[in-house]
Amino acid sequence: SHANALKGVKLMLTAGPTREAIDPVRYISNHSSGKMGFALARAAAAMGAEVTLITGPVTLQTPPGVQRVNVESAQQMLDAVMDKIDNQDIFIGCAAVADYRVAEVASGKIKKSSETMQLALVRNPDILATVAAHEVRPFVVGFAAETHDVETYARDKLNRKNLDMIAANDVSVPGQGFNADTNALRVFWRDGHQDLPATDKLSLAFQLLSLISTKITKK
Ligand code: C5P
Repeated sequence: SHANALKGVKLMLTAGPTREAIDPVRYISNHSSGKMGFALARAAAAMGAEVTLITGPVTLQTPPGVQRVNVESAQQMLDAVMDKIDNQDIFIGCAAVADYRVAEVASGKIKKSSETMQLALVRNPDILATVAAHEVRPFVVGFAAETHDVETYARDKLNRKNLDMIAANDVSVPGQGFNADTNALRVFWRDGHQDLPATDKLSLAFQLLSLISTKITKK
């Protein structure tokens, strides 16, 4: 029944962590595995979508039929996204984008000298919000990892970033979400919501994409 639900639909998504250089040999990053984003890419391609996957450094194989673009930093991820955003129908922001980058990347390896040191950081661009503010705008879906008051924070993000839909997971539940193979999602949109109970990330990906497909055909 999934088979052709996204036939002819152009879908772009971001996945994985970003890597923010400190100097030529060091970086700031996070523990994102990219599993949820890659599961969504695999499911979307199986549902007939034309899939572009913009990913930070992960150790996962490219799913069949998926066009993959490898990036490192948040700025590179934003550039890769905006380069191909124009005729996309759906955009899903799955990446764990670093909130900050180092203000001035050192051109040579930083040597240890004093007992303490400080790194000045500056805010990274919000890729999801940038896509949602674009003039020709796809259906925009965000993710939110929360530890409490999931609905309140998710709906706040939905409104603040002007999203069409947000998929929230409670990362305080053990074995769920970040880096795990299973997840549960609470999905919110302007005038509705649906809970997708804990299951493997690929099943969840099919369910989320089916839900998205019912919303885009309404346009
Ligand atoms: O605000 P917060 O980081 O919790 O929002 C998470 C959502 O926003 C995810 O969909 C993530 O991919 C996206 N995001 C982004 N660019 C950022 C920060 C978050 O696209 N700089």
